[in-house]
Amino acid sequence: MSARLMVLLNGSPVRGSSVDLLLEAAAEGAREAGGEAEVIRAYDLRAKACIACGPDATAGYCIFHDDMDPVYALLERAHAVIVGSPIYFDTVSAPLKLLIDRCNCITPLVTLADGRREMVPKWTRTRRAAFITVHERAGRYDMAERTVRGFLKWCGAKWEETLAWPHEDHETGSVPDDVLARARALGSRLTQSDPLQP
Ligand SMILES: Cc1cc2nc3c(=O)[nH]c(=O)nc-3n(C[C@H](O)[C@H](O)[C@H](O)COP(=O)(O)O)c2cc1C
Repeated sequence: MSARLMVLLNGSPVRGSSVDLLLEAAAEGAREAGGEAEVIRAYDLRAKACIACGPDATAGYCIFHDDMDPVYALLERAHAVIVGSPIYFDTVSAPLKLLIDRCNCITPLVTLADGRREMVPKWTRTRRAAFITVHERAGRYDMAERTVRGFLKWCGAKWEETLAWPHEDHETGSVPDDVLARARALGSRLTQSDPLQP
């Protein structure tokens, strides 16, 4: 049997940033628990934005074929998903939002035999998931969390918790060790937990 796969979607543009370090810690936790971990950096993808192509556009995932193709394949195989992003104007970063929008096709609008149209998930909702975010103490993350939870639902995953680190400094990668330890524990826990019942 292959190892459980954790897919970590990284919405940070900055290598060594707090979001970056937290996701790496979660990936380490997943590996320590015997799983595999794949980090996808949204800023490295060359992918078109969703154009709302409408119902029954393709039997596959998307009408476009670009760097999102391997992302769909990894998410399909995933046992667990962690979305990580800095808060930019109260939500996730733009390249991560592009990736999220492109996953609309995992629960596409399809025309049924009787002519009605319905959102039909391609995958069962068995994946465990979490959100990791970093923001200024005066800011908020609830709107980003709402976006992430909607996305996870669309991809056969269920949000279980958010690890948010509000801070006051402006130093790259200043996230403290106790918060990194929480991210590592989160990665281990999601990997060790059995898949959800659909
Ligand atoms: C374009 C941009 C928009 C931002 N908007 C917000 C915001 O709305 N709320 C907030 O709390 N912080 C905001 N910030 C600050 C970042 O969330 C903060 O610097 C965070 O630490 C970035 O994560 P990192 O340290 O992992 O890079 C913004 C930063 C940038 C660059």
